Amino acid sequence: MFNRIFLLCLCLCLDVDGLPLGCRWLQHKFREHSVKSITLLETMANSTNTNTTQDADVPFPDELYPHPSEASVEDKLWFIVQLLDKVSELLSVDQSSDTIWPWQKSTVDDFLVVMHGQTRGLSPCVDSSKKKNKKLHHYFKKLTSHILEKMSYSAEAWELIRKELRIHLLRVELLALSSN
Ligand SMILES: *[C@@H]1O[C@H](CO)[C@@H](O)[C@H](O)[C@H]1NC(C)=O
Ligand SMILES: *[C@@H]1O[C@H](CO)[C@@H](O)[C@H](O)[C@H]1NC(C)=O
Repeated sequence: MFNRIFLLCLCLCLDVDGLPLGCRWLQHKFREHSVKSITLLETMANSTNTNTTQDADVPFPDELYPHPSEASVEDKLWFIVQLLDKVSELLSVDQSSDTIWPWQKSTVDDFLVVMHGQTRGLSPCVDSSKKKNKKLHHYFKKLTSHILEKMSYSAEAWELIRKELRIHLLRVELLALSSN
């Protein structure tokens, strides 16, 4: 009994380290899901074996990322939620259209489930009425127009996108770690 009370107190205390209350997802689940999503991106690459030596025509938006040690935890988590939402949006294409990605549907579905799990898990930690990041929105539009549309939604275009998303997920994981 006393042990249980002690553990309860310990857990409550651990929540007081600057994180918004109810943000357990970040501490306990985020990393596990992040690793899973990156593995699923690798599975996609392995399934098509598309090779591209081309570089994306869109520079990686380093400047959009909040500074790991200077930005507030809230701003960092809000950025992460928006980014993961955009990633989901980019891959949620009409299955019957010819803009479809070249990967196995089940792998992409699993990936999207992980993305939604992450944003749902983090939702108690962010104030979603906050203003959305317009530059992030424009960057994702550019991925569509400068890569996917320009390269006619080819397997190579999707491979460029996949590689780009992988870098984002790795960066996001670092950002999440710095918020913990
Ligand atoms: C992808 O293929 C590489 C090389 O064959 C292998 O080492 C890796 O485990 C594979 N990854 C996944 C997630 O299937
Ligand atoms: C991809 O291209 C590089 C360089 O052209 C080559 O070394 C590599 O073996 C290729 N990989 C696959 C999977 O075709």
